[in-house]
Amino acid sequence: MRRLMHRAFGGPEVLELVEAPDPQPGPGEVRVRVHAAALNPVDWKIFSGTAAATSRGLEPPLGVGNDVAGVVDAVGDGVTSLRVGDRVLGSARARAMQDRTVVDLAQEALVPIPDGLDDVRASCLVVAGRTAWAGVEALAVGGDDTLLVNGASGGVGVLAVQLARLRGARVLGTASERKHDRLRAYGVEPVAYGDGLADRLRALGGVDAVFETHGTEGIDAGLELGVPAARMIGIATKGHAGVVGVPMDLGRTGAGLAELAALAADGTLDVPIAGVVPLERAVEAYRELMGGHVHGKLVVDLLAD
Ligand SMILES: NC(=O)c1ccc[n+]([C@@H]2O[C@H](COP(=O)([O-])OP(=O)(O)OC[C@H]3O[C@@H](n4cnc5c(N)ncnc54)[C@H](OP(=O)(O)O)[C@@H]3O)[C@@H](O)[C@H]2O)c1
Repeated sequence: MRRLMHRAFGGPEVLELVEAPDPQPGPGEVRVRVHAAALNPVDWKIFSGTAAATSRGLEPPLGVGNDVAGVVDAVGDGVTSLRVGDRVLGSARARAMQDRTVVDLAQEALVPIPDGLDDVRASCLVVAGRTAWAGVEALAVGGDDTLLVNGASGGVGVLAVQLARLRGARVLGTASERKHDRLRAYGVEPVAYGDGLADRLRALGGVDAVFETHGTEGIDAGLELGVPAARMIGIATKGHAGVVGVPMDLGRTGAGLAELAALAADGTLDVPIAGVVPLERAVEAYRELMGGHVHGKLVVDLLAD
């Protein structure tokens, strides 16, 4: 099978596409024929050797990516929850960008893909979807709340704004100007990020909660407007001003994943796709992601020629 991997930490130039033997599932494990694998910033944070790798004890040689959607094509002893032929989505930390991957069901979550949801969109729900889900749940926003999502057009933000709207919240979302219309389509009031953010939010009546997906600016604006740390989530710079990240280990639990898949399958949740590329162009896609301005998700299609 084809496998994207790296033998040293570094930039996208360390990534190599190699031929590797098909992995075999052991007890409690299943093998997935990967059809689609969504990219996330944590992937490049791992292959670059940041704390995202070291805190998880990950050392090269390593595979790449996390989010997979595909079909179970082999099951190990003792697996009763999944069968060969089942369509699934879930986590395969540092081994998603390859034709086949093995998942230990005690360590990482795989859930069925409902009818009506294609593999590309299904793959996008794993890290970005569950982070958006967990953050919005933790903030417990409702009809009386105005939520600021800082970085509202990114992979996490674009799902978080929709989930918050579904809960009835008024949502203010920051994005670059050219993406404001896309946010309006979700019922989000777009706001420019950058200097003077707190003043712009104040002019719109202030905010009750903050979902910070980019850095610290949304949290600082929230503090200036009197939002307590307990009503803010910060996923890109954890611990800033005492604000925590999402309160769960997203790889191990399927919490929220089945619900997200159902919402995406019936069209309630829009999963915008920034681009779909074959595995041979994954490195290019990582360079684009690292540029920091994608709208929605970049996905590798492993069935493409
Ligand atoms: N469990 C976790 O803790 C967890 C899970 C998922 C993600 N994360 C982290 O959260 C961050 C976001 O992830 P993602 O997947 O959403 O990334 P992404 O898809 O790359 O999102 C990038 C977005 O950031 C926006 N942006 C760029 N500069 C900005 C600025 N100065 N202020 C506000 N927004 C700005 C861009 O909007 P424009 O294009 O409109 O400029 C773009 O839409 C990453 O650091 C990631 O590692 C953490």
